[in-house]
Amino acid sequence: MFPNPDAKPSPQVDELVHRLRHARSLFVLTGSGISSESGLPTFRGVGGLWRTHRVEELASPEGFARDPELVWTWYNERNAAHRKARPNAGHYALAQLEARSRDFTLATQNVDSLHLRAGSNNLLELHGSLRTARCTSCTQRRSLDSSGLPLDQIRHECGGLMRPDIVWFGEALPQDAWRRAADAAGRADVILVVGTSAVVYPAAALATHFAGGAYVAEINPEETAISDRVAYSWRARAAEALPALVAALET
Ligand code: OAD
Repeated sequence: MFPNPDAKPSPQVDELVHRLRHARSLFVLTGSGISSESGLPTFRGVGGLWRTHRVEELASPEGFARDPELVWTWYNERNAAHRKARPNAGHYALAQLEARSRDFTLATQNVDSLHLRAGSNNLLELHGSLRTARCTSCTQRRSLDSSGLPLDQIRHECGGLMRPDIVWFGEALPQDAWRRAADAAGRADVILVVGTSAVVYPAAALATHFAGGAYVAEINPEETAISDRVAYSWRARAAEALPALVAALET
């Protein structure tokens, strides 16, 4: 059931399984770490740079205003990588967890669509997705395929610029997704925080400030910004720990 030494059973895992088994409402927050075993890089992992550019420089309104072509080149590369990647056992385990839960909400900071492709339904994409681009002026959206947005089509017919349909540093989260995520965190009995360094707000606050009386557990091989505030830090990889949890719930 726990195939990897990283994901070995312990009294705390037993308690987490017990809590999950009896939870009326479950809220899960994920970050880029859950997709690392699908071959996608995390944000603050090794390098943390694209070519010579810091991610914060590219993923911001200022970066886009400075050099829209550079920003689109980066997103087009990421978009192509997302489409080539496959959901891993961690993504599928969350879809299975949803199927056996009465009230389940998954909020992700990822824009890679892997949760959607793994079959998660009640999914809130807090930072948007790379499935669409939208005009900075008239807000019209267009779908993106695996080739992304051709650089000669950044200028929209209305005169505005097409931008990735995602949230950048310094921008507000989509209101509806945020409200639903905050409500779900507030009513949850158990919150799982998976594969995020929990340094980017407001998403990280869902597992702390917005958590009602929930038992909060994180699944992450490394310490995070909220490790000292959660009930349990399971130092394991998502693609090992999450399927192990689902298997334990099924016995
Ligand atoms: P980070 O790169 O900050 O954190 C990734 C986390 O995943 C780290 O804590 C790793 O230890 C952990 N991790 C790595 N491999 C893992 C594995 N196999 N299983 C579980 N955990 C693993 O990425 P995020 O927290 O997602 O926002 O970053 C949050 C936001 O910052 C992103 O959504 C993005 C970024 O700037 C915007 O672009 C607005």
